[in-house]
Amino acid sequence: MEAYNKTPDHVQLYDLMFVTLFSEKQVQERVRELGAEITAQYKDKRPLFISILSGAFVFASDLMRAFDGDCEVGFVKLSSYAGTRSSGSVQTVMGLEKDLHGRHLIVVEDIVDTGRTLHFFIDHLRQQNPASICTITFLRKPDAAEFPVAVDYVGFDIENRFVVGYGLDYEGLGRNLPGIYQLR
Ligand code: PRP
Repeated sequence: MEAYNKTPDHVQLYDLMFVTLFSEKQVQERVRELGAEITAQYKDKRPLFISILSGAFVFASDLMRAFDGDCEVGFVKLSSYAGTRSSGSVQTVMGLEKDLHGRHLIVVEDIVDTGRTLHFFIDHLRQQNPASICTITFLRKPDAAEFPVAVDYVGFDIENRFVVGYGLDYEGLGRNLPGIYQLR
């Protein structure tokens, strides 16, 4: 059986069927709006976009191209410390090579679920004395929140259901879907 099967309304990845939540057009419109807001706040500050791998690379790529001004980009890979998603710390397994002191940082996430990843990462960034830290996520699940984290910009708040597409995966598949799909 093919692992991937897609129609205009749904996509099947392995054993799971997903239906469209946000179309590619809706996604791109929202990214443009967010890009305009970030531009208004950071145009002359030469911000450093920090994309948390792997999921956020798609959103970060579109977002920085919707930003109208000088900017830089960097990537970090974070890993959950304990085996579960609801406890434990977060480790940096691939870090930034840039000096963050005095920089304006824009941390880019694809989704904030429990909030654990951002909570620990922001704490880590603060220790490096940046000029400012702002957080932006394309999706957020308010009902799944377990860790206190202030998110400055949110693309969409969604229900606590499993979603794929636009960087988000199920067992490694689905990151290339241009829209967002939720589990049927
Ligand atoms: C996802 C997502 C966020 C995190 C959000 O990453 O990209 O980084 O989970 O969940 P949280 O708010 O509960 O911390 P994941 O660990 O699935 O890795 P991936 O991006 O490589 O798929």
